Amino acid sequence: RESAAKKFQRQHMDSGNSPGNNTNYCNQMMKRRKMTRGWCKPVNTFVHESLEDVKAICSEKNITCKNGQYNCHQSNSTMNITDCRQTGSSRYPNCVYKTTKLQKRIIVACEGNVSVPVHLDAFV
Ligand code: A3P
Repeated sequence: RESAAKKFQRQHMDSGNSPGNNTNYCNQMMKRRKMTRGWCKPVNTFVHESLEDVKAICSEKNITCKNGQYNCHQSNSTMNITDCRQTGSSRYPNCVYKTTKLQKRIIVACEGNVSVPVHLDAFV
């Protein structure tokens, strides 16, 4: 079974890459990263920073996540991210997304004996 840490990397990490002018980035990546199997995952964020830099967010102070758990952490610096959001006319299995490039601080949930990111909670 895929670990939560690996799932985070599959769903949220795209280091050393960015959409550039490619308005199809989210359409391609949501499919390539298997988030359009069985349903269209409605909202997902890709992070274009090193895994090392994203893992380091787990060392920031604990804050409350959207689900009430106290295992979230906010990045000190802004990060290059891409917000993928399903369009109103998107219908499974033809998942269609709007691609928006942003520079925001991100909030991740971390878990494990060696604390690593397992969920992307928000960008702010
Ligand atoms: P599942 O993988 O079981 O669906 P996301 O796709 O939003 O990054 O979330 C990845 C997984 O982390 C989701 O579970 C989600 O429910 C879970 N999750 C949400 N909040 C969490 C938290 N505070 N701590 C750990 N996991 C959390």
